[in-house]
Amino acid sequence: MDEHVLSHDIPFSSVYVKWFLITVAVYYILPWVIKKLWYFYVTFNCDSEGSTKPLPPGTLGYPIIGETIEFVKKNADFYTERRLKYGDVYMTHTLGRPTIRVSGASHLRVILTGENTLVTSQWPSSIRKVFGEGCLAMAEGNMHSFRKKIIMKAFTHEALENYIPSMIDITRIYLRKWMSVKEIHGHDECRELAFALASKLLVGSDFNQKYVSYLSEIFENMVNNMFSLPFLIPGLGLWKALKAKETLHKEIAKCIDKVEREGSQQSFRSAIHHILEQKDFGKYGKQEFIDAVQELFFTGYDSTSSTLASVFLYLGRHPEVLQHVREELDDAGILQCSSDEFQPSLDKIYQLKYLYSVVREILRIISPVGAGYRKALKTFEVGNYRIPKGWTIAVGYRDTHLSSPVYKDPNAFDPSRWETLPNLDSRDGDSHIDRMNYTVFGAGSRFCVGKEYAKLVIRVFVIELARTCDWKLHNPYSKMIYIPSPKVIDKLPLTIWKRDCSI
Ligand code: HEM
Repeated sequence: MDEHVLSHDIPFSSVYVKWFLITVAVYYILPWVIKKLWYFYVTFNCDSEGSTKPLPPGTLGYPIIGETIEFVKKNADFYTERRLKYGDVYMTHTLGRPTIRVSGASHLRVILTGENTLVTSQWPSSIRKVFGEGCLAMAEGNMHSFRKKIIMKAFTHEALENYIPSMIDITRIYLRKWMSVKEIHGHDECRELAFALASKLLVGSDFNQKYVSYLSEIFENMVNNMFSLPFLIPGLGLWKALKAKETLHKEIAKCIDKVEREGSQQSFRSAIHHILEQKDFGKYGKQEFIDAVQELFFTGYDSTSSTLASVFLYLGRHPEVLQHVREELDDAGILQCSSDEFQPSLDKIYQLKYLYSVVREILRIISPVGAGYRKALKTFEVGNYRIPKGWTIAVGYRDTHLSSPVYKDPNAFDPSRWETLPNLDSRDGDSHIDRMNYTVFGAGSRFCVGKEYAKLVIRVFVIELARTCDWKLHNPYSKMIYIPSPKVIDKLPLTIWKRDCSI
């Protein structure tokens, strides 16, 4: 009997062992071998001229797709996990390219001050087609400096001062609209508000909520389809994005014509007015300028809207901070909750120090732009590592804000930290701390042209919200996603009502 059992046992266990070995080979050894071969293939021939340093640590995933699937699944946690494992400089392979992700002030300094010598901007070809060659972010060298100088005229002290009355009026219209309904999705509504502000202040279109909705639908259609495969096939993403762009360009051309016709007769001057007034403007081609306005329009609302929603989120979670803002407004004589008569000047707004700390802290803790993308023009070194020519570099702005030793307890929302820190967001004055620790608006020659406009929009929003409203977040701690831009997954449901002015 025993022998009989034994004789059956031997073949059974050998089959079992065989399957076990096949499973191990298929699930563990084969992927490991494929990954190793792919790593070897990508790194073997990469340039090393002028550097003896090693490539940064990290992994490159599977052939072609790299680590894209894991990246899509994990969102921003993908970067956090790798930074904790490999440090401030590591390699990965996402969205079709070997990429070196870099964070930390001293590393950012090498890259951001090396524009045109070490690095240049890098955009996927679908984005280049949608944004067009006339926009600032695609321009390089002298053309970039020329265009930037002209565009910056739309954001001088005088221009910003001129935007304030319309900025306040439009913000108030939206707050009243939100207070008239039972519940809003803060994320979508802030997107519409930022869009309405950009269409009036930057492009000069007449403010009309129906027209704003029409334009924003075309825009969203373009934006949602622009990260797509670079093939122009009817019905596919890029084709849809370019169709939307065509309609948008017609609308922008109408706005430009109107400004050219009416010129200085208008009392309100949009960003387009300020730009057209430049004497060098003639060197801008018509089509290029339409591209530039489309870029301002897009950048003008996309990142700003994410921060407006973050204002709801963080001040809703931290009533003590909201109370502090109100006290400062009261001290400055602008907490006139029952009156909509007053219009604070730009200087008056700039004097509100705590308000500015709140804005900087919201932008730090939940930076709308996670990274800037560059291509290495030649092989160079960052820290102890080599960055090979031609590789993509992701400059980790958000990573730096959440890991820099300059910020004590970096994941805590604490506007008061700015009382002891220098103004890292300004080029004026000395700073004993490297400004690259705060790159919410980028740095070097590619710094954000709209940063002062964006900060003003956010400040005005906080002032109006604190003066006139109270609100309740329905899910104050729901999950956040960060890519393409930060938002809570449930779109931030909240109820907002008129504040009791006696409190
Ligand atoms: C909270 C709002 C905003 C944030 C956080 C933000 C952030 C940034 C960052 C980090 C960059 C540099 C990207 C890089 O290094 O590649 C940038 C560039 C740029 N931003 Fe903004 N931005 C904001 C709002 C705006 C607004 C309102 C405008 C226009 C009205 C604007 C226009 C631009 C343009 C045109 C560039 C390209 C600059 C160049 O290539 O020289 N941004 N922005």
